[in-house]
Amino acid sequence: MHLKLNNAHVLVTGGAGFMGSAFIRYVLKQEGFAGHLSNLDLLTYAGNLSNLAAVASDARYSFYHGDIRGRDILEKIHKERPIDLIVHFAAETHVDRSITDPGAFLETNVIGTHILLEFVKAHSKIHFHHISTDEVYGALGKEGRFTEESSYKPNSPYSASKASADHFVRAYGATYGLSTTLSHASNNYGPHQYPEKFIPLVIQNALEGKPLPVYGSGENVREWLYVEDHARAIWAILSQGKKGEVYNIGGGDEMKNLDLLRLILNVVEEMTGETGLDRLITYVPDRLGHDFRYAIDGAKVEQLGYRPIWPLQAGLRETIKTFPGVLV
Ligand SMILES: NC(=O)c1ccc[n+]([C@@H]2O[C@H](COP(=O)([O-])OP(=O)(O)OC[C@H]3O[C@@H](n4cnc5c(N)ncnc54)[C@H](O)[C@@H]3O)[C@@H](O)[C@H]2O)c1
Repeated sequence: MHLKLNNAHVLVTGGAGFMGSAFIRYVLKQEGFAGHLSNLDLLTYAGNLSNLAAVASDARYSFYHGDIRGRDILEKIHKERPIDLIVHFAAETHVDRSITDPGAFLETNVIGTHILLEFVKAHSKIHFHHISTDEVYGALGKEGRFTEESSYKPNSPYSASKASADHFVRAYGATYGLSTTLSHASNNYGPHQYPEKFIPLVIQNALEGKPLPVYGSGENVREWLYVEDHARAIWAILSQGKKGEVYNIGGGDEMKNLDLLRLILNVVEEMTGETGLDRLITYVPDRLGHDFRYAIDGAKVEQLGYRPIWPLQAGLRETIKTFPGVLV
């Protein structure tokens, strides 16, 4: 794509969340990065500036408190420092919340993305990278993996809102010639994830001796991607990917939820000296529309030189040690 990343002004939306903050920390660590990162975040319940404490005083980083649906703030950021590239993470992200309040997902994930695309349309030199999810492809059976050619079959209001945003990104590229790329990642985990998601919830509850909820019989299968590997994959796409292309990013570690939970408990026990934590496992009624399995075929992004380097157990250790009270 020939983006001159090392000198680029990158607008990260949702940069105070779990993945956006990991991406910002990752880019600022890259040798030779002399550009600027602006973080536009509304600081909803899921956004937390302490995720960026380590980089808050870096001169290459600025924070803007605001809504992606506000065109004025986008114009203000662009006027202060022309934007070369937007990496769009901001979203409502929790499937269970989308089941109780789908409207919020439509507002942020669909309307919000559309407003950003309109902004890029008015400033057509800006490249737009959209962060999507493998959940847009729906559920797999025991076999097979999602490729970039897989058809869309979203099953939750969350995945439907992400799918809709994906289609707008594609359509704005095809219709107005916007420079775009799009990536679908598998389930991420790592430090600073809000503890409503499975892995941080299990870790937190295990450390506090609280019940560990497992949906249904725990047979659902997910592929896990360490958040820093995801940031590396996005950087590889931005530096070597092709305009208009879609890339699937997987972590390679596929596991049944119940097996993952037991693995987390083993690592927590090993790191804290606790024993018998599996007594806390509590089966709860299955989530509505719960997809059985997701798995990614990552061959295309691997052609850009990207490989996940974090094995699940090492990534879990790295995550667990950030929880209060875990001594390392
Ligand atoms: N977490 C995963 O496993 C996963 C996997 C694949 C794709 N994704 C996608 O990656 C992106 C980031 O996910 P995450 O887990 O880091 O999310 P998160 O919930 O941790 O963070 C979302 C961030 O967006 C901000 N935000 C929400 N609405 C906003 C608005 N209107 N304007 C500005 N900021 C707003 C929040 O304050 C928060 O900081 C999302 O687009 C999500 O769909 C996530």
